[in-house]
Amino acid sequence: MASAMLNGAENLTLVRAIAPNPKGLGFLRSDIHGKNFINLTPIPRAKVSIRAARNRTLVPKCSISAPRPASQPRFIQHKKEAFWFYRFLSIVYDHVINPGHWTEDMRDDALEPAELNNRSLTVVDVGGGTGFTTLGIVKHVDAKNVTILDQSPHQLAKARQKEPLKECKIIEGDAEDLPFPADTFDRYVSAGSIEYWPDPQRGITEAYRVLRLGGKACLIGPVYPTFWLSRFFADVWMLFPKEEEYIEWFEKAGFKNVQLKRIGPKWYRGVRRHGLIMGCSVTGVKPYSGESPLQLGPKAEDVSKPVNPLVFLSRFILGAMAATYYVLVPIYMWLKDQIVPKGQPI
Ligand SMILES: C[S@@+](CC[C@H](N)C(=O)[O-])C[C@H]1O[C@@H](n2cnc3c(N)ncnc32)[C@H](O)[C@@H]1O
Repeated sequence: MASAMLNGAENLTLVRAIAPNPKGLGFLRSDIHGKNFINLTPIPRAKVSIRAARNRTLVPKCSISAPRPASQPRFIQHKKEAFWFYRFLSIVYDHVINPGHWTEDMRDDALEPAELNNRSLTVVDVGGGTGFTTLGIVKHVDAKNVTILDQSPHQLAKARQKEPLKECKIIEGDAEDLPFPADTFDRYVSAGSIEYWPDPQRGITEAYRVLRLGGKACLIGPVYPTFWLSRFFADVWMLFPKEEEYIEWFEKAGFKNVQLKRIGPKWYRGVRRHGLIMGCSVTGVKPYSGESPLQLGPKAEDVSKPVNPLVFLSRFILGAMAATYYVLVPIYMWLKDQIVPKGQPI
């Protein structure tokens, strides 16, 4: 059963009305009480007038930030940059990055909608990295049925060292071009990886393809900030999608019963204005076997194309500097949580 939505997100402000999404997603419905799953079901724009929506539609305040610009520098949202980013980050990843953004509590909460309810399910963990999320998966599913895929050999080397993951299959590969035939897995899980995919729609379409009929995808990822400074650093660093973008990508890929559950570190007390590196868990069910109904052209990024080393290095350094801001945010929020009396907003 779903636990309360959001660890400590009780003080979310719910507001009336939302402007229509310019991409045509329409308006979004959500649970007025902010408990359990937010079922962000898109309502066709044509069917809802703005005035009617003002009166009837309730959405969390955080999803009405200024539209996320489609083109921002996002210096680390490319495969080559992500590769080098994790070349260094993998050394400290489990000890420095996860405790601030992706705790065991959050992981278990985020995996709940994946319905890992049978030990013989076959699961692929895409962008599985050091295996932190996979450790949550193998609590429910036999490790021999679990495949970890990541483009970073350095991250995967850490996963290989973990005893509970010894029987998992560990594969180097690209989330946007999965090396599996259609209809292979019962579950697709990906946590904290979409932000590095140059073409997130393609990765989600791949999730659809590799799932079996009735299989479920569970994608855990960041959410876009509303606070200006956080927005600046988010845009410089990598992709922070908006909640409605996730829904749109899932639905376009062909998923049904698309749901979004908010997550966040407990000590944030539900604050989402700075964005979250792990801010939501989005699930969808594959209704038909075979390929996704969405046909995409060639991949956006050609990794074999040579890059100017100077441009690459500058992008990399700027991106890494922006990422540092997000190492500090959870510390700042933790200090606030310690100082501000319990029950008060921070
Ligand atoms: C923030 S880590 C998340 C690791 C793990 N899922 C966890 O929960 O701790 C992001 C991972 O995505 C991987 N990644 C980034 N782009 C990828 C791509 N295109 N294909 C496969 N993996 C990718 C990175 O190498 C990195 O290991």
